[in-house]
Amino acid sequence: MHHFSHRGGELACEEVSLAQVAEAVGTPVYVYSTATLERHVRVIAEAMHDIECLIAFSVKANGNLAVLATLAAQGVGADVVSGGELQRARRAGIPARKIVFSGVGKTREEMRLGLAEGIYQFNVESVAELRTLSEVACDMGRTASVAIRVNPDVEAGGHPNISTGKAGDKFGVPWDAAPAVFDEAARLPGLSVVGVDVHIGSQIDRLAPMRAAFAKTVALAKSLQEAGHAISRLDLGGGLGVPYARGDAPASPAAYAEMIADVIGDFDGALVLEPGRVIAANAGVLLTRALYLKNAPDRTFLVVDAGMNDFLRPALYDAHHEIVPVKAPRDGDETRQFDVVGPVCESTDRFAVQRALTGVAGGDLLAIMSTGAYGAALSSQYNARPLVPEVLVRGQQWHTVRRRPSFEEMIQLETYPEWKS
Ligand code: LLP
Repeated sequence: MHHFSHRGGELACEEVSLAQVAEAVGTPVYVYSTATLERHVRVIAEAMHDIECLIAFSVKANGNLAVLATLAAQGVGADVVSGGELQRARRAGIPARKIVFSGVGKTREEMRLGLAEGIYQFNVESVAELRTLSEVACDMGRTASVAIRVNPDVEAGGHPNISTGKAGDKFGVPWDAAPAVFDEAARLPGLSVVGVDVHIGSQIDRLAPMRAAFAKTVALAKSLQEAGHAISRLDLGGGLGVPYARGDAPASPAAYAEMIADVIGDFDGALVLEPGRVIAANAGVLLTRALYLKNAPDRTFLVVDAGMNDFLRPALYDAHHEIVPVKAPRDGDETRQFDVVGPVCESTDRFAVQRALTGVAGGDLLAIMSTGAYGAALSSQYNARPLVPEVLVRGQQWHTVRRRPSFEEMIQLETYPEWKS
């Protein structure tokens, strides 16, 4: 559920008119709803109520400082995958003891940062990484808390580009090698190996693959405990899907939590979850203005002012996002099919193909829905387009939490070499 709805014929975010935001900030612009972010955290926390659990928001989904601060105020921690994300989380007020550091390619510098901050756990993905972390921790005279990410060889379903738990994927240590990797890790100085970590993919709408992966992981954790390893944590990653199109019905957080409770059974230890999308996706929209209608022999293009640099998911994953006119259609308005495309010079710069839209004309404002996760986070300045701004709404209030850079700001890191004549 989200807090975007038509009020008095116009789409609003909570109690703020989106047309007003667009007027003031310009388009394209992302708009996030505080109430929706908070609600999603509450729903997950309530679903997990019986189980001691750290909800570590996956910062890659939306790293905006004001969004992170909103989540921090709800008690949420962070799952980070870079030194930059770690610093974002800390800057937004997320305590280090609630931060897990994931990712296959942490540098020594990033490890040092995590150790200096005293983060909750490093999720380590290879023997080589374990050895490096051990060296860095010893150099600093620290002990790193470590969970080892395993690859359960389970097909997550969904888009292959966001599936991470099959044997050929780069993620996690191979299933059969896992016990030996834990043995080796236990022998390395500077490491305290406390957990088993698994994450099989993203936008997973059925529970069965997660249940299969988690069951294998819990069984492994128990057998490691029996073998004398001090395993006291399970990190079950993120990945729960969200409804993007009307009719989508992914598993609910309640069903997900029930499945987890069932699978972990009597496992004695703490739990970490790393939800990203399920918290942020439906809490954001991308506002864009229709620039031109352009007729081709077999279709009409609706050219909008947002491009794939601002919102990449349709180009990258063929992702479906609802597109809603900010002005509610009126009785008698014509419904037409459009290919909704952006201004970027790529054929994949396309938000929808043959999409029925009612009452839309050049100049109209449109909201591309469910773009709060992996929206602004994946944006770029391709085609020398400035990074898209972000606005956070709370009740009747709104604030530009990242403004649009000027042209000068866009180029300020660039310099000419001395040989330029
Ligand atoms: N934990 C780990 C280790 C991850 O790799 C990810 C996402 C998450 C947690 C959060 O997953 P979520 O709950 O958001 O599904 N750009 C893609 C999604 C990439 C996800 C990468 N990893 C998209 O727009 O669909």
